[in-house]
Amino acid sequence: MKKLLKKIGIVAMLAAVTALGLTGCGGSSGDEDVIKVGLVQLVEHTSLDQIRESIIDRLEEEGYVDGENISIDYQNAQNEQSNLQTICQGFVADDVDVIIAITTPATQAAMNVTDEIPIVFSAVTDPIASEVVSDLENPGGNVTGTSDIVSAEQIMGLAEEITPGYETIGALYNSSETNSVAVVEDLKEYAAANGLEVEEAAVTNASEIQQAAQSLAQKCDIVFSPTDNTVASSIATANQVFIEAGVPFYVGADSMVKDGALATYGINYQVLGQETADMVIEIINGADPAEMPVRTMEDMEVYINSQTAADMGIDIPQAVLDRATDLAKEDL
Ligand code: TRP
Repeated sequence: MKKLLKKIGIVAMLAAVTALGLTGCGGSSGDEDVIKVGLVQLVEHTSLDQIRESIIDRLEEEGYVDGENISIDYQNAQNEQSNLQTICQGFVADDVDVIIAITTPATQAAMNVTDEIPIVFSAVTDPIASEVVSDLENPGGNVTGTSDIVSAEQIMGLAEEITPGYETIGALYNSSETNSVAVVEDLKEYAAANGLEVEEAAVTNASEIQQAAQSLAQKCDIVFSPTDNTVASSIATANQVFIEAGVPFYVGADSMVKDGALATYGINYQVLGQETADMVIEIINGADPAEMPVRTMEDMEVYINSQTAADMGIDIPQAVLDRATDLAKEDL
């Protein structure tokens, strides 16, 4: 933080920097003026790639061009906890000015290595339940960012409109992703209040998805996956099982519908990426993450995949079609 302020030469901070006995910033030149950003992404899947591109595009639009006045060190952890740790330790060793962490596990890993360097998280489902911040309005530390929380209850309401009368809901997710656990808890509360059953199939890595999906397909009327990174990164496997078994698959994110799941009521990740970038820019310009409220996304939309519906012989009611974006026909 101190170093970042020094680089951008905020006059008001000069006194404080000097008082701490650091060298002045007047004469710095060349690479010293380039803002260093560490960008860590948990894994590759459609949504996270979209978020990353949206962040980088917005930074560029606002005049922060990678390789010119900003240097973005993008690292992907391939869904391995040990990689996350190595990547984040590397950012600290490189003394980056700000870390952008895409996903909950990436944010948790970054928080484990620094409480000094500002961390701007992107798409953390439930920042409170995941212990990323304790107060959304006043984060208080070096960590703030954007949340992509969605409501299991609203998605189940949409499921009731499209495929009414279901009684048993399968929950497919990775139990080590706290982002997913939080939403599955909500799902269980909703089910209990409405006399429905939840059957859980918790995986620990992508190789278990096929079998977990098959077992749920035998027991459940519908299946739900929250914004789970492990499921999202192997979504084709899950879709194939559920389409063949004739079990409607509802999900937490538009990208998963684009990739073949039936429907969601979700947020716009392009906008989420832009807002993440805006927060990064504020911090580059001297804002204190401690005082920057976590941003949640307001504009929710119904997303459907008409191709999947057709493959399964499901007729999507006109009332849903009227307000839905059909991702079999449109891009994200
Ligand atoms: N919300 C997820 C997390 O907190 C990250 C995420 C963003 C995601 N978009 C997604 C996961 C789409 C699955 C599908 O880690």
